[in-house]
This record gives sequence, C-alpha cells and structure tokens, in this order.
Amino acid sequence: MENKLLKIKENTLGELKIITNLKDLEALKTKVLGRKGEMSDILRGIKDLSDDEKKKIGALANTVKNELTEAIDAVEKGFNKGTTVKIDISEPGVSYKTGHLHPISEVKKEVEDIFASMGFSVVEGPELDNEYNNFDSLNIPKTHPARDMQDTFFVKGLNYVMRTHTSNTQNRVYKNFKPPFQVIIPGKCFRNEATDASHDIAFHQVEGVVVGKDISLAHIKGTMKEFLSTLFKKEVLVRFRPGFFPFVEPGLELDFSCLLCDGKGCPVCKKRGWVEFMGCGMIHPEVLKMGGIDTNQFNGFAFGFGLTRLVMMRYGIEDIRHFHGGDLRFIEQF
Ligand code: DAH
Repeated sequence: MENKLLKIKENTLGELKIITNLKDLEALKTKVLGRKGEMSDILRGIKDLSDDEKKKIGALANTVKNELTEAIDAVEKGFNKGTTVKIDISEPGVSYKTGHLHPISEVKKEVEDIFASMGFSVVEGPELDNEYNNFDSLNIPKTHPARDMQDTFFVKGLNYVMRTHTSNTQNRVYKNFKPPFQVIIPGKCFRNEATDASHDIAFHQVEGVVVGKDISLAHIKGTMKEFLSTLFKKEVLVRFRPGFFPFVEPGLELDFSCLLCDGKGCPVCKKRGWVEFMGCGMIHPEVLKMGGIDTNQFNGFAFGFGLTRLVMMRYGIEDIRHFHGGDLRFIEQF
C-alpha cells in the first residue's frame, strides 16, 4: 500500500508537469482526489489494516493527499491567472475606429503652413468682440448696413458683437506689431442670416495684413498667386475687379482662374473662366492711423477670404450646411 501511495504521488506530480489546460487538470483532480478516485480507494482500504499499519499508512496517505492537493491547486491558480491564454494568431484583427481632423481644420492648417513659409505670422483674435474692433476701427460708419441687426449678432445691453469678419483683429495687430510685418488671422465668424446652400450663420475666414514701406497692389497679386498655386499644386492666375470695403482704398475683389478649365469656361465657373475668391485692397490710411501706424512711413494691404468656401471648392461640397450638420456620414468621407 505504501508503494501504491508513492506511485500515485509520483505519477500525479509527473502528469502535472506536462498538463496544458484547465480541463485536463480537472480530469486529473477527479481521477486522483475525487470521491471515487485513487486516494479514496486507498483511504477506504485502511480500515482493513492492522493497528500499526493503520497509523503508518494513514499518516502517509494524509501527507500525500495534502501534497497533491497543494500541487494541483498551484497549477490551477497558474491557469486562472491566464498565464497560458491561447492566442489564435490566424484570427482576423479587431479594427479600431479612430477620429481625424475636420476638413476645415485640415485646410486651415495647410493655409497656415503656406503663409508661414512666406514669412507670415499666424495670430488669433476673439470671436466675441466690441463694436470698436469689429466696425469703428475699420472705418465702417455707424450707418453702414453691415451693422444692421439682421446681419450682426449683438450682445444685449453691451457694446459687444459676435465678430462678423476676421477683420475685427486688424486693429489689435496694428497696435501690437512693429512694421514691417505680415500676419494672417484665421477664425470663425458669425452672421445673423437666413441659411441656404452657400450661407451659414457660422463660417470660417482668413484675414491677412501686410504693412511695410512702398507696398503696392502688385504685392497682393504676387502674394495670392503664390499662395493659391502652392495650395492647388498648379499654376493659378489671379485678376482684380473693383470692389468696395470701407477699410481699404482702393478696394478690390480678387478672382483666380478656374481650376477645372484653366480659364476657358466650364459649368463649375459658370463659363466665366474665373472664380470669385476674396476682398482686398490697400489699407485705408484712417484705419492705419487708428492702429497707431505712422502713415508717412508705412502703408499696406489687407485681404479676407472664406476658408469654408475654399474647402467646399477643394472637395466639391455643394452645401455649406453639411459642415455643422453633425452627420458622421459626411465627416467620415474625409
Ligand atoms: N471683411 C470682409 C468680409 O467679411 C472681407 C475683406 C475685404 C477683408 C477686404 C479685407 C479686405 O481685409 O481688405 O466680407
């Protein structure tokens, strides 16, 4: 019987060493320690032994039983810790949904990079601003239609408005930069308008101001031709048309040659060959003076274009309202 016990111990410890999973371990446990298992057999046989033998075998049986119980428990713990979790390396992977930048942020970054490479600083201005910055400092008279309640979000009881254009930051730039300087101001603007495919109450603009000595209209053309050609990765032509903005004199509209037909005329440019792009002009001397710039020494140009429109042109988006519509099917296309 003693031999039998030692054999059980030896075999069990041997099997434990090569066992690879919980199921086999359970089977082994039942075979050895179960109610009808090998150890129970031995213990049941003890009653037929002599008194001396009973003591000796009984004690040995208990020790072996405890040892095996401990050994089996230890291996079981190892399995439960997951130390031998099986990995099926042929199983298809789990794909994670990752986000990405909004198309407006994407193009805004590109625009900033191009202007930065041309020596411009990039600054931001406040979306909620006082009327002085948004209108007065830009030579916009108190009676100007842009100040109408229908176009501007006013803050009740205060002199504050949601900026209607990024031009609101011009005065701050004049007061904080020492000429010569060139700065762009990208940002969100707001207008109290009925929305349609090309108008939203919130949209993005990029303002630019360049102040220095002997600046001329030719600098606007050169700057914008360079900027647009870099952005669209092909040579783009620009042209001026007369325009009016109270903060520039002369004031102009700048068009660029249609990217699709190269100026020949197509449905996208409505057979004009040109796409309207932005307002610009030589900064009005009054505006420079209000910014503390010495107009005997310096002059400059300013421009402002719609970043949202640029993104629409780039991706062929026909309705501006998609941008803030919150429909993931739209956003996920970029
Ligand atoms: N602020 C004008 C707008 O929102 C755009 C603009 C026109 C900006 C001419 C300029 C400029 O700096 O010179 O329509």
